[in-house]
Amino acid sequence: QDKTLLGTQGLEVSKLGFGCMGLTGVYNSPLDDDAGIAVIKHAFRRGVTFFDTSDFYGPHTNETLLGKVRPSASSSSSFPESSWLLALRMIELLNRTCCIRVQALKQLPREQVQVATKCGARRGESGTLSVCGKPEYVRACCEASLRRLGIDCIDLYYQHRIDTTIPIEDTIGELKKLVEEGKVRYIGLSEASPDTIRRAHAVHPITAVQMEWSIWARDIEPEIVPLCRELGIGIVPYSPIGAGFFGGRGVTEQLSAESVLHIHPRFEAENLEKNKQIYFRMEELANKHQCSPAQLALAWVLHQGDDVVPIPGTTKIKNLDANIDALKVKVTYEDMKEISSQIREEEVAGGRQCTSLHIPPGITEIHKRNR
Ligand code: ATR
Repeated sequence: QDKTLLGTQGLEVSKLGFGCMGLTGVYNSPLDDDAGIAVIKHAFRRGVTFFDTSDFYGPHTNETLLGKVRPSASSSSSFPESSWLLALRMIELLNRTCCIRVQALKQLPREQVQVATKCGARRGESGTLSVCGKPEYVRACCEASLRRLGIDCIDLYYQHRIDTTIPIEDTIGELKKLVEEGKVRYIGLSEASPDTIRRAHAVHPITAVQMEWSIWARDIEPEIVPLCRELGIGIVPYSPIGAGFFGGRGVTEQLSAESVLHIHPRFEAENLEKNKQIYFRMEELANKHQCSPAQLALAWVLHQGDDVVPIPGTTKIKNLDANIDALKVKVTYEDMKEISSQIREEEVAGGRQCTSLHIPPGITEIHKRNR
């Protein structure tokens, strides 16, 4: 798979990333460890090297799962319980037989993988959501994430949601220290306003901004996208398949009983009934391009530019393969214009965010375009 530079600080990632969130249960019941690890390893085998998680997912279990995939750096004397690649084990075995030091080889997969995680969003005992950008909190979270992931440096560490009660300079100042200490390589922000992005970038270069972006969630286009381009910041779209909508979720396939989409405005019965028309229109367009609606939704995001690295998630190898194959779907400028004119966010019924899942505005920022 092609690599691309995310931001202008040197972070190289696969053109398609993988969002691990769903593996520990959001849209479906959680996968067991072996199944989750198999999905991640399959992604790596097919060239995906950029893996996205957060301490919020689970909470914690998603990072722990990802941590189980890679061999720990300190277990150089034994075969890892679960390594990135079977092939790697074989190479290692060969090298052992040939009495070559294996430690460097064991580190090889780590060097080929970019681990992105986040802190700042949390769920209290009673289920209430809050945000925290206090420097000491950020530091403690980083150290806990490193332990769960079993690594000594996080490649890309995002502030997951912005704490509007703490100056962003203070939060980024602490992240900057973590970079200087070698615990974090690059810094990112998720769901931040243009002003916050600018202020943060003045303290330490921001490598990536992670925002919702898809054919039916286009809030970031008027302000955030141009700002990222001006500042040389990479864009990581989450929910590029519309949280499964363009994969047919809620239309051709029922929502699973555990799915958070039951509380997503766009999936509420009345709205969903209207939105189905959008899915069918996308299906027609996809037929024209000889791909699935999910693949066309992904291709639309992938074609936004080399600086755009979506992180679709899936719990199924079949869908993972389909998503990776979406890299081969070529759409022209004219096709992009046609898709954008047929699928218009203005016609979508319901807001883009699960209101009860996301932290209320007032204590955090959820970017909305000025309409
Ligand atoms: P998010 O970033 O919020 O995880 P997303 O990547 O837009 O959202 O969509 C994830 C959802 O799309 C998952 O529910 C996934 O369901 P499965 O686990 O059942 O695959 C669904 N999905 C992902 N790729 C798909 C594909 N190629 N076809 C159909 N559904 C797909």
